[in-house]
Parts: sequence; C-alpha cells; structure tokens
Amino acid sequence: MNGRMRRLSKAPKKDRVPRRGSSSTAEATIEPSFYDGIAARYDKTWGPRFEAAARQLLSRLGRNRIQRALDIGTGTGAVLKALGQRQTPPVRLVGCDQSLPMLARARRVARGVEVVAADAVRLPFPDESFDLVTANFVLSHLRDYGEALREAFRVLRPAARLRVSNWAPATDPCSTAWRELLGAAVGAEMVEKATKLVAPWEAHFGDPDNLSAALREAGFTGVEAAHIPFVWPSSVERYLADRELNAATRKARQELGEAAWHDFLKSARRELRMRFGRNVSHSRGMIMASGVKP
Ligand SMILES: C[S@@+](CC[C@H](N)C(=O)[O-])C[C@H]1O[C@@H](n2cnc3c(N)ncnc32)[C@H](O)[C@@H]1O
Repeated sequence: MNGRMRRLSKAPKKDRVPRRGSSSTAEATIEPSFYDGIAARYDKTWGPRFEAAARQLLSRLGRNRIQRALDIGTGTGAVLKALGQRQTPPVRLVGCDQSLPMLARARRVARGVEVVAADAVRLPFPDESFDLVTANFVLSHLRDYGEALREAFRVLRPAARLRVSNWAPATDPCSTAWRELLGAAVGAEMVEKATKLVAPWEAHFGDPDNLSAALREAGFTGVEAAHIPFVWPSSVERYLADRELNAATRKARQELGEAAWHDFLKSARRELRMRFGRNVSHSRGMIMASGVKP
C-alpha cells in the first residue's frame, strides 16, 4: 500500500460505486487498498472460506429480525450475502469498504443491498443507526482499530451487538512448510514485513484475549470470544492458488520476478507433493468476538 491518498470523486469510472445513505463523505479521502488488486480473484479463490466464516459470525444471532445491519470492510459481501439469506433478512442492509473494486462485487450479493465507500475509522452514518454491526476479518487491517471500534460503537443503537472476527494462526504442517519455503526464497523478514503492511494486527488478534480486550476498551460489555476450528481439505494446486493471493506471496513474486517465481512455484509444488501427497489439510481457525453496546 502506498501512502498516496485518493479522492473518491477521482476514482476510475468503472470502479465507481454509488453511495446511498451517505452524505458527509462526499469529499472523503481513501487510501488505495491491497484489495483493489485482488478483487477480481477474491471470490473464486477465497470466497468459500470467507462465506463459511461469515455464516459462523452470524450463527448465534437467534431468529429475531434485525432491522438495520452494517457490515464494515464488507469486501465482496460475504456477510451481506449471509444476512440476505436469513429467513427474515434485515430491512436495511449496508456494506462499507474502502476498496471500490471489492464493493462493486458486494453490491450484487443480495437484493436491496446498499454499498458505501468509506473508511472504517470515519463511518458516514449518524449515531445509533444500526441494530447489528459486523466486521469479518477487518480489524487486523486497521492501523487505528480502536478508532474503528469506537465508530462501530457510535453507530450502534443501545443494546445492539457488534460481531468481529480474525484468522487464528495456521497450524497445519503444509502451511508451516509453505512459510519455510517462501522464507527460504525471499527471506522470512520480508514475508513478515509484507504481511504486516496489509494486516498489521493479524497476529495480535489471533489471540481471543486481545480481541476481547479491544472490544472492552471501546466500551462494549458482555464481551465473548471463541476460537472456531476450521479445516479446509484441498489439493496442493488449490492450496497454492489460495496462497498466491496472499500479501506476502504477492510481494515475494514481485521481488523474484516472473521467471524466478515460476521456478520457485514449480519446486514448491514438487516439495509439498513429496511431503504431503496430492491433497492437504489447511487448518486455520477463526477467532470470533462479540460485544453489546450498553
Ligand atoms: C480480508 S478482507 C475481508 C472482506 C469481507 N469482510 C469478507 O469477509 O470477505 C478485508 C477487507 O477490509 C477492507 N478494509 C481494509 N481497511 C479498511 C478501512 N480502513 N476501511 C474500510 N475497509 C477496509 C478491505 O478493502 C477488504 O475488503
């Protein structure tokens, strides 16, 4: 991510997303996002994982109708889709994100969905506008996650709930082997640096206690956090495609150049197949936390 700021009004026409329900951010500035570059491939490669996680995020909501829901950092709309599929979908369903290419996809996932280009730390909604706020794998990306949580708190009505998630560290032997191979090719430090550029708090919020503490600091009560294990059986091919979208891998590819990258992939594929066979288990749990605005 570079530090250049982009005015929404100057976004390329094809990326423009009409903003409904927003008035105060007409002149807002938004940083170009890592996700702009991967939006086209996000659903195909990561969609099933994020959609399964989104269903988990909403799993304990009960049957009561949610009137107005906001999904922060909605991406291509995994949570909006799950909310839209509830027996009684919310009357108002809003997703916001800073990436216009991601939002362009989110707007198609459910009937009547509203998408808004906005920074999570400056939400363009009046106080107490929503009965539910969600942020699925978003907080880790926000340098000032505390401010984003205070914004979520502000736009929730009293007694309403916030639900957030983060990936737990990957623990399977294939992921360990992949990290070692990538680290050997470009340096472990570079891998860590690239990950931190996109998601500086990913490791921090991999611990449920840290996620709970952040919610409490923002004023939420009744905070609960849980680790939900997920195992994703996959072919080595699919596993590599999944990893290729990742920030550290994309940086490694850039560093190595196309020819060296293809050689690296070839030898990594051979190595993973030799160690694990054609199919692997990618186990990466989800940390989920929720809190209530008193
Ligand atoms: C890992 S993706 C998750 C997307 C979606 N929640 C899902 O479950 O598929 C993180 C999303 O957060 C968005 N994001 C990152 N920083 C943001 C910010 N400051 N304000 C709004 N959205 C942000 C990214 O553009 C991206 O779409």
